[in-house]
Amino acid sequence: MTTYTVLGSAREEERLIGEFAADVARGLAAEPKSLPCKYIYDERGSGLFSRIMDLDVYYLTHCETEILETCKDSICERAWSRGLNVVELGAGDGKKTKILLGHLIERRLGFNYVPIDISESAVRDLTRDLRTSMPEMETHGLVAEYMSGIRWLSSNNQGGNLVLFLGSSIGNFSPAGARRFLRSLRQSMGGDDRLLMGFDLVKDVRVMESAYDDPEGVTALFNLNMLERINRELDGRFDIGAFRFRSGWDPESMAIQSCLVSTGEQDVRIEGLDLTARFARGEAIHTESSYKFTVEAVEDLAAASGFEPVEFYFDSRAYFLDALLKPLP
Ligand code: TRP
Repeated sequence: MTTYTVLGSAREEERLIGEFAADVARGLAAEPKSLPCKYIYDERGSGLFSRIMDLDVYYLTHCETEILETCKDSICERAWSRGLNVVELGAGDGKKTKILLGHLIERRLGFNYVPIDISESAVRDLTRDLRTSMPEMETHGLVAEYMSGIRWLSSNNQGGNLVLFLGSSIGNFSPAGARRFLRSLRQSMGGDDRLLMGFDLVKDVRVMESAYDDPEGVTALFNLNMLERINRELDGRFDIGAFRFRSGWDPESMAIQSCLVSTGEQDVRIEGLDLTARFARGEAIHTESSYKFTVEAVEDLAAASGFEPVEFYFDSRAYFLDALLKPLP
């Protein structure tokens, strides 16, 4: 059986729109301006991110695909003490995950797959796809944010869970935010549960920078989707052509910082919020930080949030790391 659930009710949806409105109003009033990156991932944004993951320059996905292909045996062996649920935070299009899922099916390990994603279209398309491509497995998708997924885990942690947090979404949290997030994830996990988590490692600056600014401009469209979403959902009047995407390595924060820059002085009306945002020429809206890690930083983060490493899996160039972690008692 394959289904998906949108957590919450019509009232929940209302709450989410209210939250989006409040976050946009707060972010545009701040100095410097910023918008929370989670809002990029609506139907259009999730589709654009799938395209980014197919780009040659976006090495992260190719490296992690290589790791999962090469290490799937070891991962399954080490993680599969009694896992009955594979729970994935931010499943997206599930392309990489299917490598592991296919392997578990092949080894005839009975399990359920619980993909969780903020984008309803992503969960809908993924569950629909799995119904035909992997009918041996029971899939129950959840449209929800990470925290609701974590709450789901706390009430379902008797059977054993393998939690997947693939890609580099952990790098989109601030260092303190990453610790807080992993600590609450730890609290909701049982002692025998395992966490497989992706980390993009610090490397040649040119390699990192080109992953976040592709020549085809898909990444620019992906970031600009934030403004388009404000136009669509909050009756905003952003002139998309009057903003330019910019990203680059910041050695101080050890992150690729991305933003949208106003190409001229302009006032932008957002009717749904009854506000006008004023931009100076060259003024930026910060859209996302993508923190990069050293192996030591991964070890420190794991220890600081109540986990210990079971195994570290690297790709052949050691660009990327998938860490298999278990809760510290
Ligand atoms: N989680 C992805 C990352 O940090 C999101 C992403 C991909 C992204 N390309 C981007 C964020 C460009 C901002 C700009 O790698």
